[in-house]
Amino acid sequence: MRLLILGGTRFLGRAIAARACAAGHAVTCAARGISGPVPAGARLVKIDRDAADGLAPLARETFDAIVDVSRHPGQVRRAIAALKHRAGHWTFVSTLSVYADNRTPDQRVETAPLRIPVGPEVEHATDATYGQAKVACEQAVGTDAFICRAGLIVGPEDPTGRFTYWPARLARGGEVLAPGTPDDPVQFVDVRDLAQWIVRCAEMRRVGCYDGVGPPLPRAELLTKCARAIGADCTFIWIDDAFLKSQDVRRWAGPRSLPLWLPLPEFAGFMTRDSAPAREAGLTVRGLEETARDTLAWHPGANVPLTGLTADEEAALLRAWHAHRTN
Ligand SMILES: NC(=O)c1ccc[n+]([C@@H]2O[C@H](COP(=O)([O-])OP(=O)(O)OC[C@H]3O[C@@H](n4cnc5c(N)ncnc54)[C@H](OP(=O)(O)O)[C@@H]3O)[C@@H](O)[C@H]2O)c1
Repeated sequence: MRLLILGGTRFLGRAIAARACAAGHAVTCAARGISGPVPAGARLVKIDRDAADGLAPLARETFDAIVDVSRHPGQVRRAIAALKHRAGHWTFVSTLSVYADNRTPDQRVETAPLRIPVGPEVEHATDATYGQAKVACEQAVGTDAFICRAGLIVGPEDPTGRFTYWPARLARGGEVLAPGTPDDPVQFVDVRDLAQWIVRCAEMRRVGCYDGVGPPLPRAELLTKCARAIGADCTFIWIDDAFLKSQDVRRWAGPRSLPLWLPLPEFAGFMTRDSAPAREAGLTVRGLEETARDTLAWHPGANVPLTGLTADEEAALLRAWHAHRTN
């Protein structure tokens, strides 16, 4: 295929480009070129999607397939207007954050309600409007495309430091603060598995809307498998949601957070999406052990900060928990 990736200089976009190159496709990545390099074998066309005529450098080209990773409705609308009629197949990478209900477990694409999209005047997503902006992007793309609503994307080159917190923390060993209960669900997808599936779906001209995420697994399985895979000697200290909230521990990501922790039941639906349709449509997921080992091998040499608790914050919380338990 002649494949165009709108993006391709960062994490998922670059993984898609790398996978497509490895599969023998002729890959063009179109971006400003400031987030990073494109993979070996891919061509970079420099564009600025925020400019009205920003797609002009692609004006004379046609593609068998186009993949767009943007989160900004203005960028997506301009790409659809300028390029969709010149592409044999269109993929839009969306997100599970399009869903309005994070509380109900086991939801499926066909029935899960969506957030109200941002209005047509909105050009850019912000952190606060991210999910609503992605709904607007999806609507601009239309239904004759492959819409991949990605779950938490993890693995080497993850710029967010979220999943990476865990293998990096486990590698230090000792008493590890584990949030919630051992049975709390976690759900994610290795960037390389998602990339492979997106390329495969473009090859097959798949159309439709899918949640691109692996099956949920208990948090204890995540932590014990990661620890075993990297040879870490850890004792998990499970601390309940109420105590963590009382100590001002934040959810998901950011300062003083426990990455991948979402208190229940408020977020019981966020990491229990039904992943069966994606698997039936060809998404394969590698072993968690491989993801953990590869992430830990990649991270020390990368200039990517971790998010989450510092070692001092975690130690202080563990002391507070032990004192709380003995009182
Ligand atoms: N990470 C997760 O856990 C997660 C979860 C669910 C969904 N997603 C979705 O997955 C996608 C991730 O994409 P990604 O990993 O490839 O990272 P990204 O940060 O979304 O990549 C954005 C790409 O667009 C390019 N770009 C940004 N502004 C541009 C402009 N004005 N003109 C031209 N190009 C521009 C960037 O390259 P330059 O800076 O070089 O221009 C980069 O290649 C996103 O859509 C995100 O919403 C992510």
